[in-house]
Amino acid sequence: MQGGRANLTSRASAPGKVILFGEHFVVHGTRAVLAAIDRRITAVSEATEEPVIRIDTALGSEEIGVSESCRTPELRPLEFLAKKMISMHSHPGGIAVKIKSGIPHGVGLGSSSASCVAAAASMSGLFAKYPREEICSMAVEAERTIFENTSGADCAVCTHGGIIAYDRDSGFQSMGSGAGLRLVISDSGAVHSTKSVVAGVAKYREENPARFEELCRKESGLIRRAEAQIRDGDAAGVGRSMNENQEYLEEIGVSNARLEEIIRLARPHSLGSKITGAGGGGCVISATPSPDLAVKAMRELGVRSFGAGIDRAGLETF
Ligand code: PMV
Repeated sequence: MQGGRANLTSRASAPGKVILFGEHFVVHGTRAVLAAIDRRITAVSEATEEPVIRIDTALGSEEIGVSESCRTPELRPLEFLAKKMISMHSHPGGIAVKIKSGIPHGVGLGSSSASCVAAAASMSGLFAKYPREEICSMAVEAERTIFENTSGADCAVCTHGGIIAYDRDSGFQSMGSGAGLRLVISDSGAVHSTKSVVAGVAKYREENPARFEELCRKESGLIRRAEAQIRDGDAAGVGRSMNENQEYLEEIGVSNARLEEIIRLARPHSLGSKITGAGGGGCVISATPSPDLAVKAMRELGVRSFGAGIDRAGLETF
């Protein structure tokens, strides 16, 4: 719609995510397996007559002119999306967007990707209906304004939901809803910067090229086995694969003492555990036969834990 009449309000919501296998290695070309979780972010957008961009999130609120820039770096992806929509649709006014998040920020549960996906869908929905693939591409473009080297895996799972396999060359492949997989998430309470942890891994690769290549090969083999374990509902196998994946993550330097303590505390109640997301802080996921018992036990040990169901719906517009 070029310069056409915009809808007044448009809403969309997208789930958060965990990375089951393959974080960091996916940035360097291997496959990763991700699951959407039952915690969501909602974006509500309005077309305004005034030529302004108004952004309201828990990370900050700003109002700028349509050719100005946000002062808060975390708001740049939303600013990018608003400007893109205004220009694509020759909209003479502006856009106001409000983000409501049920996903903790900065701990690897996809709050940034889910907000880019929900915002891309709600803002574009003011003008036209776009297919999911296009919404996902816009969300990845928006994320790249703050983290240039993102693999795109997070936005793919927040868009499509369920469990997916992903690699940079062939994109995503749906793996269904992971029946039999029960997950507990434990939050270390430390916020991480994905960008700086990813830069640390690039340095590790530069200093240890042969070992990094070998680890990528091992990770690829592990992921092939883990995909079969997920498809077969082999929860014990998935747990063993998580433990193995954690060893590789420790070797490339993204783990730390607190994350390893959480993994040790989770051991009696789980089939296996690992960091999920960038590491350096953030969360640990465990595969467990009884999430309620595991959550109770972890909370008694002072760890902020919760059970996570798999979200099947992915992006929803309404
Ligand atoms: O968004 P986080 O913190 O869960 O980390 C993203 C996963 C990485 O593999 C480290 C980066 C990427 O873009 O895939």
